[in-house]
Amino acid sequence: MSDSCEITGFSKSDIEKYSYLHKYLTNKEKIEFQTPENLEGFIKPLQNTVSANRIHSSETKRRESLLKHLEKSIASKFENSKISTFGSVESGLSLKGGDFDLCLQIQDANQKKVLKRIGGMLKGQGMEKVQIISRAKVPIVKFTDPRSGIHVDISINNTLALHNTKLLASYAKLDSRVKDLAICIKHWALHRNISDSVNGTFSSYAWSILVINHLLEEDVIPNLQSSTDRVLAEIDGKEFDITIDESNALDDSNNKNIAELTLSFFHNYATRDWSNGVVSIRSGKSLSREEKGWMDEEPSALEIYNSDKENPGRMGEHHLAIEDPFDLDHDLSRVVWADGEIRIRNELLRAAEMFGNGSPWKDICETVDPDRLSDMEPVDIFHDLRDKSDDIVRNMLEKTKAEIDSVDRLIDALESERQSTLRMAKAMRGVIEETSDLRKEHKSVVLGLKSRNAEIDEIKKKRDKINSDVILPIHMIEDELSKVYSRLTEELDIHRVPSLNKEKDQFSWFMELQAMHGKAREASELHHRFIELVKEQKEEIKKLKIYETKHDDATSKLLENEPMLKDKNISSKEVNSYDRRVHNIQKALRKRRGEMHKLRREAGRLDAWLRKKSGSQNRGRNSGRGNKKSKPRGKKEDSGPMTLGDISGLLSGMNNETSSKRTRKVSSKKAGMRKMGNLGAHRGSRSQFKKKD
Ligand code: UTP
Ligand code: MG
Repeated sequence: MSDSCEITGFSKSDIEKYSYLHKYLTNKEKIEFQTPENLEGFIKPLQNTVSANRIHSSETKRRESLLKHLEKSIASKFENSKISTFGSVESGLSLKGGDFDLCLQIQDANQKKVLKRIGGMLKGQGMEKVQIISRAKVPIVKFTDPRSGIHVDISINNTLALHNTKLLASYAKLDSRVKDLAICIKHWALHRNISDSVNGTFSSYAWSILVINHLLEEDVIPNLQSSTDRVLAEIDGKEFDITIDESNALDDSNNKNIAELTLSFFHNYATRDWSNGVVSIRSGKSLSREEKGWMDEEPSALEIYNSDKENPGRMGEHHLAIEDPFDLDHDLSRVVWADGEIRIRNELLRAAEMFGNGSPWKDICETVDPDRLSDMEPVDIFHDLRDKSDDIVRNMLEKTKAEIDSVDRLIDALESERQSTLRMAKAMRGVIEETSDLRKEHKSVVLGLKSRNAEIDEIKKKRDKINSDVILPIHMIEDELSKVYSRLTEELDIHRVPSLNKEKDQFSWFMELQAMHGKAREASELHHRFIELVKEQKEEIKKLKIYETKHDDATSKLLENEPMLKDKNISSKEVNSYDRRVHNIQKALRKRRGEMHKLRREAGRLDAWLRKKSGSQNRGRNSGRGNKKSKPRGKKEDSGPMTLGDISGLLSGMNNETSSKRTRKVSSKKAGMRKMGNLGAHRGSRSQFKKKD
């Protein structure tokens, strides 16, 4: 007998893993969710979740400055383009540390090419984790800005997203419970690892739509898409109804609090008959599958999940069907995989049950796989120093300073090598330019010699060929011709009349001699031309020698002024090799400067930690003595996590001793920020340390 369940097909371990879903599917009739005795008790923890996710003005500022930077560096590179923000940052439904969604609007764009170009540009700017996802429905380039820690997604011409963001923003403006519930649900989904469209669960956006849908069903908000005046927009040749009517209002909205709404949210979706309806906020109610034309296709998630785990095959579509409010052909559950669907349903049931039995909110949201969320946590830049003694940290600081000095010396050496190589290449170029006229003439003579040589060879060949064909030299031919001619034309001696045959022979010999004569004359003309050319060639060779001497004289005069070029082979090839060397030195310099940058940052961090420690010790002592001196601005009281933002205040008073002996000019207005620059990654001109004296 098989160990797996007859209803769900789950193995023993799967029954444990998905116990809530298993219980629900096997006891459907008997499951009844409770309402906790102290539902009011949930209000505070839920409100805490909302306020913990409040976006601080410092985060907004960091986003704004990043946006400005991207506008300048990206949008300005593409003609007629513009960057717009969308997503939760724009709709107001953002979790703290959430991503920053940007849309580059650009006409007639080849999306893949544009994304590739942007990706390259971002890498060049020192952005981290740059990743181009070109196979998604909406291709994007993802990256993290190391300076602010913000994760960014840039898509191209994602116009519809701008409209659906506006719709979510309009709902959020309507009633504060939209934002509160969205934050609580998104927070829960994030921590339970079911809000990750790349890994087969709902997108964060899909959870927002489910929240709006729930609040519509609960009559907390009116349907903003139901106006009679329809607004249509053509996007990529397709027409969309993008109506948003912010004037819509409910006659009598309910006044359920956040605890009631969160509980009902979990009940609603945990027990929903997904197989019979399609979530549609556009309609303000669930649509029947027939009406929508989206059938609950086979195979089911369970069938796929329980089949060959190695090679699970494709699940049928539209199981947890959610219609996009504007793109009506887009089912937001399209990204959900079989195990994703099972996990989502199990988590909804788990939350509904735990909420019902009064389990603490923090347990309901207990993080699954905390490592996954580590880069959303505020960066505690001192985390590795907290368990180290001051002596060890001081030691680390000394070591870092020594490394700074040694890299500094290396940079100096490379810099002077670069300068001298540059000077050498420049001087060589100078010599080459100065003597270029002579070399040009020399070159044209050499070219003349070459072509003349070819002509001489050709003529010689022709002459010799004729000479080998014509046996007699020309003067003998001419003698013989005149002899035969006289013989043929002299007065006839009637006693010695030649025979007819002999006369015929004389004639043909005459003709033959004539032909030979023509050829011999040609050979003689060729010979004369040959002699002429050889003479010319000798003259030109003499000239060549003169140019060479002149060139040598000019070069040695120039070298008298450029002793460093002495004994150097001066040629364009050599100049090119010096150029290549400059290029390689520059590459090495860039690498070393990057190292220096990191080392200075590290020294600043270690120094700040020691100051922070000694500051809090002093404070402790001072307060013991009743010293009422005010606390240093920006310092933290405890040793809780410190972010880059927190530390800027700490460092603003610190002298720049750790950044090696060298001094940098810092403009007064942004002095604090610039010093802070020591700790973060830099962009563009901001990354340039002022050159040392
Ligand atoms: P996200 O999934 O990042 O949602 O999609 P979000 O609301 O910004 O959530 P967090 O705070 O980052 O977790 C960003 C935007 O992409 C569009 C929507 O405009 C959404 O607001 N989008 C996303 C779609 O249009 N369709 C989708 O299927 C997913
Ligand atoms: Mg987002």
